[in-house]
Amino acid sequence: MSEAQIRRRVDELAAEISRDYEGANPLLVTVLKGGLYFLADLSRALTIPAAIDVMAITSYRGGSPSGVARLLKDLDEEITGREVLLVEDIIDTGLTAAYLLRVLQTRNPAGLAICTLLDKTARRIVHSLPIRYRGFEIPDVFVVGYGLDYGQRHRTLPYIGTLSDDPESAPLLGRPAPPGR
Ligand code: IMP
Ligand code: MG
Repeated sequence: MSEAQIRRRVDELAAEISRDYEGANPLLVTVLKGGLYFLADLSRALTIPAAIDVMAITSYRGGSPSGVARLLKDLDEEITGREVLLVEDIIDTGLTAAYLLRVLQTRNPAGLAICTLLDKTARRIVHSLPIRYRGFEIPDVFVVGYGLDYGQRHRTLPYIGTLSDDPESAPLLGRPAPPGR
């Protein structure tokens, strides 16, 4: 997905959210670090007042498929009685989002829904997630860029792409320098 495609879709989602959450002053919550880029662009495209907050978790994706997660950094904000929108970069198995929803639900928010930029439905294990907004549905391929990383690399790319198997064509780490530099 190119920078322009992402921008267009983020603007569409922001318009929908602005309509649905009119007067609700929602709290947009994301998870470090992958969701930062999407949260920043999405929140700035809203036309309603909103607040943001971030959480950090560990997930043991490499070690076990259980998706067991532990909270490393909690929210700063109280969410009891508030409209909360969990903003995710990607939902794959859904285990991470299910864990986060469980944690947030115990605090009795007024509402709790998910906005994910990317959705890999083919790999879903948890089917009951309240995904209210979805940027793009993608096939079961590993993607990087726009916050998504592979071993902490490629997060800062302004677009989303797949990794090549060919070591000679190492993925671009950034935009080409503008002429004259
Ligand atoms: P889930 O718990 O399986 O839904 O996994 C969600 C997390 O896995 C995301 O927040 C990402 O950190 C990571 N992840 C899943 N698929 C990809 C991908 O294609 N590229 C980069 N990270 C991914
Ligand atoms: Mg993530």
